[in-house]
Amino acid sequence: MPLTRRQLLGTIGRVGVGVAAFGGGALSFARGAAPQPAARTITLEPRVVTWELAPGKKVMAMAYNGRIPGPEIRAREGERLRIVVRNLLPEPTSVHWHGLDVPHAMDGVGGLTQKAIASGESFEYEFEARPAGTRWYHTHVEEHRQMDVGLAGPFIVEPAAGERVGDREVTLMLDDWRTGTGTPVPPTHDGIGAFRRRPGGAGLAIEGDHAATYDTMTINGKAYPATAPLRLARGERVRLRIVNASSEHTHVVRVAGHRLHVTHTDGNALEAPVEVDALPIAPSERYDAVLVADRPGAWWFECLQPGHAAAGERMSVMYGGHEGRAPGADPEKVDNLRLWHYALGRGRPRLAPVTGTVREIEMALAGGLDGNNRWTINGRAYPDTERLTLRREDAARIRFVNVSHDAHPMHLHGQSFKVVGVGRGRLARPLVKDTVDVEPHMASVTVEVTGTNPGVWLLHCHKPTHMEGGMMTLVEVL
Ligand code: C2O
Ligand code: CU
Repeated sequence: MPLTRRQLLGTIGRVGVGVAAFGGGALSFARGAAPQPAARTITLEPRVVTWELAPGKKVMAMAYNGRIPGPEIRAREGERLRIVVRNLLPEPTSVHWHGLDVPHAMDGVGGLTQKAIASGESFEYEFEARPAGTRWYHTHVEEHRQMDVGLAGPFIVEPAAGERVGDREVTLMLDDWRTGTGTPVPPTHDGIGAFRRRPGGAGLAIEGDHAATYDTMTINGKAYPATAPLRLARGERVRLRIVNASSEHTHVVRVAGHRLHVTHTDGNALEAPVEVDALPIAPSERYDAVLVADRPGAWWFECLQPGHAAAGERMSVMYGGHEGRAPGADPEKVDNLRLWHYALGRGRPRLAPVTGTVREIEMALAGGLDGNNRWTINGRAYPDTERLTLRREDAARIRFVNVSHDAHPMHLHGQSFKVVGVGRGRLARPLVKDTVDVEPHMASVTVEVTGTNPGVWLLHCHKPTHMEGGMMTLVEVL
């Protein structure tokens, strides 16, 4: 039986405890009680490190402040932050605040909203943290290299007022790695729908595969057995903030023996939690889900995609008194699981209503033929793609149609959008998101973008190789 939103609400006093307990690397800052007129300063120093993904598995990586994922930034909604990025890498970089509605000049796209930060130089980002929700940050220069080797971290914006979800919370950032060791993981071209169409999810590799080979999957920078166990007390409700920072892979996560109560899509609240067995998450998507600790024992949190758990994407979930026990295998077959998909959710209308005109636009997503890395929108590769111009308050209904064999998680900078339709279906209560996965083989998704934040914003596939190959365009909000 699904729990109501109210039942999932927790006590305010305990929020935040989980972050420190999990060792995910929350930065702690002194906070004044009074409203802060001045910006709080945070420093991020990207640099090259040797990172141990698992015992004996060391890689050359890039890390913010020496850790992967980068330090968790936490701010209150509306809080003014000054984030100083000191580039200690031997090459240029920039930082993008994914899912935050920052002013255009602070968006962190090297070569578009700013000059990339040269090696040895600094750049100061300054903005108000909003909207509330699970956001993240990552490099926006040479993403296909830099993001792929660790330059990403969580950015949590706590609501200025209002309800809290769960008794405590834990942030989980998922990532994929190419180490050249271990067993290659089959690609997840089918995106978030693979399990619905093909129960069991097997056989996802396709011919002429151009995707790079990934062999290690991590949770908070570590592959099992190095993943930190999630410890549970019976009866508690833990809000998981799950971020998929992977370059290529869609993950399908579950906690054996439990259901997940999905409360937020890309940081934005649903009207009521949606209870599922497993949660498919495309690259750059985030989901918040409450885990109700009502089945004492030792279990796995793991990804169900073929090869992912074996490549490290799992951690033990231990109730007090069950430490040291081997996590139990799940009795249920994957085929019988109830999976999250967009049509299950009813979004809360956070975005401003459209007061101007609404335009209908179609964007055909194509490419990747014969194993080459050219990816297009309506037949053109960036920078030759057609720019979309919107007056403020006007909206565009963009129907993405995927004519390729690979899923494309399409992301818009600067403002979130509404997911108003999936295939021929309409969503009665559009989800609020900033990334939408468009599944391959003629699947379509319709989003409604309202111009609220002036500037020239990127709209692109979040798989860095696809971006690099041209699947990118600009949305100009006047
Ligand atoms: Cu996560 Cu262009 O962004
Ligand atoms: Cu793509």
